[in-house]
Amino acid sequence: MTQHFLQVEGLAKRFPGARGKDDLTVFENIHFGIEKGEFACIIGHSGCGKTTILNVLAGLDQASDGVVIMDGKEISGPSLDRGVVFQGHALLPWLSTLKNVEFGVRSRWPGWSAKEVEAHSTRYLEMVGLGQALHKKPSELSGGMKQRVGIARAFAIQPKMLLLDEPFGALDALTRGTIQDELLSIVQATHQTVFMITHDVDEAILLADKILLMSNGPYARIAEIVEVTMPRDRTRSTIHHDPQYYRIRNHLVDFLVNRSADYAGASLEGHDPRHPPVVRPGLGGGGQVAQVVELPRPAHQGDKLSPKPSVSHASL
Ligand SMILES: Nc1ncnc2c1ncn2[C@@H]1O[C@H](COP(=O)(O)OP(=O)(O)OP(=O)(O)O)[C@@H](O)[C@H]1O
Ligand SMILES: [Mg+2]
Repeated sequence: MTQHFLQVEGLAKRFPGARGKDDLTVFENIHFGIEKGEFACIIGHSGCGKTTILNVLAGLDQASDGVVIMDGKEISGPSLDRGVVFQGHALLPWLSTLKNVEFGVRSRWPGWSAKEVEAHSTRYLEMVGLGQALHKKPSELSGGMKQRVGIARAFAIQPKMLLLDEPFGALDALTRGTIQDELLSIVQATHQTVFMITHDVDEAILLADKILLMSNGPYARIAEIVEVTMPRDRTRSTIHHDPQYYRIRNHLVDFLVNRSADYAGASLEGHDPRHPPVVRPGLGGGGQVAQVVELPRPAHQGDKLSPKPSVSHASL
C-alpha cells in the first residue's frame, strides 16, 4: 500500500438515532491521501460531512471508524503540527492582532525570547498585509482583516499541514479575491501542505492541485478525485485564458448539479471507495466526461490542447 504524507483510511462518522430510530451514517469508507506540499480541496453539498472530516484531521473530533495517519503517526488529538483556520475567524477578542499571533508562536517555540516571538509573528502579519494593524483589537478590524489574522496565525506556527474550513466564505468578492491571491503566493513560496473546504469551484481550481469530490450524504463518500492539470503559476487574472479551466469547471459543476446524488445511500456499481477514480477533465476533450488516467502528470501541458471551451453558468 502506498503511504501518503496524510493517509485517510476507511473513515466513517455515525450518530446514534434518536429514540429507537436507526443510526445516521453521515459518511463511511472515506479513503484518500495527500502528498507533502500538495494543496487539496474538498467540495460537496452542505451536510455531507466535510467539516467533520476536517475536524477529525485536526484532532478535534473522533471518527466512528477508520484511521488518519500524518507523517507516519496516527492522529489522536489536536497538535501544533496542524494549523486550523475556521470559517469564523476565532480570534481572542481581548488581544491585539500581534498578540493573537504571538499566542500560538509562543506555544510552538516555548524557548524563544519575547523579541524572537514578536519578530516572527510580525513577519507573518506583514505577509498578509497587516503590518500597519499590529496593535489593533479584532473589534477594530474588518471581516477580511480578521480572516487574514487567522491565516497569519495558522501559518506562523509553521504547521506540517494547514486545515482550512471555508476560510473566505463570509467575505465579499473583492476581499475574497485579494486574500486568495495572498494565500496563493504564500503557498507557492512555502510549499505548505493544505486541506481546504470550499463551496466555490473557481476558488478550488485556482488554488488546488487536486479536488476531492464528495457525494451527498447519508453514506457520503469520495466519489472522484479531480487533478487540476494546469501549470501551478496560476493567477486569478489569467486563469480563464487557459482552456483547461473551462473543462475542469464544467466537470465540477456537472458533478455538483447532476452526479453527486447518484452515490447516495447505496453502492454505485463499479465504484470502489478505497480507490476513487482519479480524473483529469482539463486534459480530456469531452467537457463533462472525465478521463481516467493513471500516468504521471506531464511537466507542462498547458498549451497542448485543442480548446473548445464551453462555460457552464450553473450557479451553486
Ligand atoms: N450531533 C449530531 N447528531 C446528529 N447529526 C449530526 C450531529 N452533528 C452533525 N451532524 C450531521 O452531520 C452531517 C455533517 O455535518 P458537517 O458539518 O460535517 O457537514 P458539511 O459538509 O461541513 O456541511 P456545510 O457545507 O453545510 O458546512 C450533517 O448532516 C449534520 O446534520
Ligand atoms: Mg462545514
